Amino acid sequence: MKILGVVNQKGGVGKTTTAINLAAYLAAGGRRVLLLDMDPQGNASSGLGLRGQERGLYEALDDPGRVPELIQPSGQPGLDVLPATPDLAGAGVELAGDPQALTRLLGQVEGYDLILIDAPPSLGPLTVNVLAAADALLIPLQAEYFALEGLAGLMETVERVRGGLNPRLRVLGVAITMFDGRTNLGQEVETMVRQHFGELVFWSVVPRNVRLSEAPSFAKPINAFAPLSSGAAAYKRLAEEVMQRVEKI
Ligand SMILES: Nc1ncnc2c1ncn2[C@@H]1O[C@H](COP(=O)(O)OP(=O)(O)O)[C@@H](O)[C@H]1O
Ligand SMILES: [Mg+2]
Repeated sequence: MKILGVVNQKGGVGKTTTAINLAAYLAAGGRRVLLLDMDPQGNASSGLGLRGQERGLYEALDDPGRVPELIQPSGQPGLDVLPATPDLAGAGVELAGDPQALTRLLGQVEGYDLILIDAPPSLGPLTVNVLAAADALLIPLQAEYFALEGLAGLMETVERVRGGLNPRLRVLGVAITMFDGRTNLGQEVETMVRQHFGELVFWSVVPRNVRLSEAPSFAKPINAFAPLSSGAAAYKRLAEEVMQRVEKI
């Protein structure tokens, strides 16, 4: 069982879209996948039809023994969800002094090949819990001019966690999202990101594709909502790259 955190402290860079659609393609490829929604906004949960949940990750953090009863089917074969609820926002205070709470929770999870964690847009206690629990991180970067801004802070936090809480933590890869091939800017940003991160950057670049932004309101991942779209093709290829890298860790 491998645990992958989808992290970037900036909001709106494609974390949740990547977590949902990667999880869906990994499940469609035959893996048993659990998507864990660590963002109090609960977009990963609602994007798969789990809206207005009364219980979820917050209760599971409090009492890991309840994990099996709190995991829910997503409606997609092979893909389950541990949903977020709004009270997760308050968990930051409790988790500040308890960076291993998520690690303990995951100790109660069994029967999956992969666990994907959708992290919130901050470097606060929820994200530190993700870094402490993960085997590897996937960092989505929006293809815009300030893509690299703020990443130094994330990398410093990763180094700190590696030096103490979780020495096995590694970066699995960087995924470029919302790429607009019609502009020079998109290509310039891709070049800049590849120069900066080298082979860590996945070959599959996720284009800006309206189908990807529509899918959550139909409570479906892109492979079920618009399998022939450019967004679907990109996440399918990205899932293949992710699996190749995961098999090496
Ligand atoms: N490749 C894409 N093409 C078009 N819209 C996208 C794409 N990726 C994400 N979006 C949209 O951009 C917004 C932010 O994406 P989201 O995945 O929620 O980012 P984050 O989780 O990092 O805040 C959402 O409205 C989402 O539907
Ligand atoms: Mg999100």
